[in-house]
Amino acid sequence: MAKKKDKRAAEMRRETGPVTVPARPDAKVRDYDAHVLVCKGGDCKKRGSKDVQRALKDELRAADMNRDVRIDSVECLGLCKHGPNAIVYPPGTWYLGLIEADAPEIVEGHLKNGGPVEHLAAELRPRKKRRSRPRS
Ligand code: FES
Repeated sequence: MAKKKDKRAAEMRRETGPVTVPARPDAKVRDYDAHVLVCKGGDCKKRGSKDVQRALKDELRAADMNRDVRIDSVECLGLCKHGPNAIVYPPGTWYLGLIEADAPEIVEGHLKNGGPVEHLAAELRPRKKRRSRPRS
């Protein structure tokens, strides 16, 4: 299997020529205190994620925190039936089924005071254990 992959990779190199690695961009990014990823995928959008994002932005502006917190849209977070969904970093708290009225609590409780809003935060499932490979 690995030989087949190596052969295919060699063919690709021949077809496309040597791979050139682009230089790292000489750009600076702003240092934010927090980052909010709001799902704007189809299902979340249908359930009002656009309004939730607007409400979060309005709350941040009202709290004069709009320069400290970045809000971005993402295409899908994979929990579509529970939307509108968002993840707030740090620490990476998932909020599912958000409504506009949740925005003040998330801004005040999570983004201003630095901790997840427990009653809005999704419960975490324990991670799946890795399957150990049998030794040969
Ligand atoms: S559309 Fe939002 S999680 Fe998939």
